[in-house]
Amino acid sequence: MKKFLKYVAVAFVAVLLVACGAKGGGESGSGKTYNVGVAIYKFDDNFMTLYREELERYFGELSKKTGNKYVLDIQDGKQDQATQTEQINNFIAQGKDVILANLVDPTAAGSIINSAKSADIPVVLINREPEVSELEIWPGKTTYVGADATQSGTFQGEIIAATDSKGDLNGDGVVNYITLFGDPANVDAQQRTAYSVKALDDAGIKRKALAEPYLANWDTAKGQEVTASALEQFGDKLEVVFANNDGMAVGAVTAIKAAKRTVGKDILVVGVDAIPDAMELLTKGELTGTVLNDHFNQSHTAANVAVDLMNGKDVESYYWVDYVKVTKKEDSQLKEAKPKTETTKEAKERYAKRDK
Ligand code: GAL
Repeated sequence: MKKFLKYVAVAFVAVLLVACGAKGGGESGSGKTYNVGVAIYKFDDNFMTLYREELERYFGELSKKTGNKYVLDIQDGKQDQATQTEQINNFIAQGKDVILANLVDPTAAGSIINSAKSADIPVVLINREPEVSELEIWPGKTTYVGADATQSGTFQGEIIAATDSKGDLNGDGVVNYITLFGDPANVDAQQRTAYSVKALDDAGIKRKALAEPYLANWDTAKGQEVTASALEQFGDKLEVVFANNDGMAVGAVTAIKAAKRTVGKDILVVGVDAIPDAMELLTKGELTGTVLNDHFNQSHTAANVAVDLMNGKDVESYYWVDYVKVTKKEDSQLKEAKPKTETTKEAKERYAKRDK
């Protein structure tokens, strides 16, 4: 009898092993082990660091909650697509259960999706929006989780339009501005640049760009450098600095202080992300406003969608997390929010209308 029970026990464990092994690699404790490859465009980025840390923390929370083990392999693409493609190819060779990719160059999405598809590994693209057509390569198993950059640009312009001077601090009837530009390959940079000033147009505010957008790579030191030279060149004429992100906005504020000018009084600065450094300036009245780029809900959504994919489910093509306008500390509070989903067909129709 004892021997018989032992056989039953062994058979039971064997069945369990097969059932668990069917999806998600090896076994751990009572749950399964899932291997998640995460490719970040570069680690040395304020916003993506907040995102990455929250993603790790949240997967840890999911592990505790479900009894499954999510093993994250997070790679630094060092802002080099060749390096990152190699990292992603390694993920594919290692047979990860899912790949989360914050691409260095979003135009690489197509070839990456095709490689992953041939190994049957689903892909969650994050932060850098690809072309709609890339998401049509493998519907159900590829998705983009992000935020609509046009919204962040619009909010930046609306923040300026809502100030007492409406951005026209010297009262000459025109808002003279410069833009600090993130990265030419990035939809966020392109759309924030266009939609921040479109919001001024929509509010009936006259505007003039004092220069072509300054490329500053999302970077604080670069933001400071280009703002310092713009201040030197344009002096008191410069009234508004639109920075594609807070990193560059923080740099701009440093340059403005060094030039003995005062944010709020004779110049306005607006960023995007709501990173801690920017929130500190905003609280002191040294930054006009920012826009919360909600890394909290974006990372949670990316993880939840990845889990669905690892469970063999099909997912929607887009998951959109809203931006939030921030002019005081409370506005940047992180709270759970439900993302909006969209199909590629819906996105195409929306973009066609929007870009007309
Ligand atoms: C943007 C963010 C920037 C930078 C960039 C990287 O959404 O605002 O600060 O992190 O993503 O792609």
